[in-house]
Amino acid sequence: MADNNKIIAAVLASGSGSNAENILRHVQTHGGRVEIPLVICNKPEAPIIARAESLSVPCRVIERTGTKKEQETAIIAALDEYHVEWIFLAGFMAILSPDFVAAYDGRIINIHPSLLPQFPGKDGYGDAFRANVPVSGVTLHYVDAGLDTGPIIAQKTFPRLEADTLETFRARGMQLEYELYREFIDILVQRAAA
Ligand code: GRF
Repeated sequence: MADNNKIIAAVLASGSGSNAENILRHVQTHGGRVEIPLVICNKPEAPIIARAESLSVPCRVIERTGTKKEQETAIIAALDEYHVEWIFLAGFMAILSPDFVAAYDGRIINIHPSLLPQFPGKDGYGDAFRANVPVSGVTLHYVDAGLDTGPIIAQKTFPRLEADTLETFRARGMQLEYELYREFIDILVQRAAA
């Protein structure tokens, strides 16, 4: 019998993949009926590829070689192959088209390294650090057609310490990114079990 309550997600990542690894490990150990059978990466040399493979999750590399539309069509084909309905963005460095976002409306999640709406864009930690904010944070949000503008799910804050370098500042924030994604997955696990 088909398990209709199952929640099948994919992780989309472009870089180091520490968030992706955190998500995959959490789902593998505490995922209940939440499953992540696929990682998609748009950069052929990205460390996330080896990280996913070491956790026995296939990583499909789908580079942009032509139009964005062609790339997104290939991504959707891969997602369909694995019956994916939810998308967890984890350092995915590409802006999804409004059509793509509409196709997964309310089921695309992103982690952003600032307290949105402050410091949108690709260098949240750097921008917040250079702005000398006494408190920064991280944001988990739904993705809409704008840049880092979708409805906020949850945020966590952390202080900027006097001795901070950008590296120590970022490292403190990254731990909170991992927590936010794990907590969101826990909510999905409960939803799938209901
Ligand atoms: C994270 O800071 C995430 O918030 C941002 O890109 C970074 C990705 O890091 N969108 P990693 O690849 O998960 O290590």
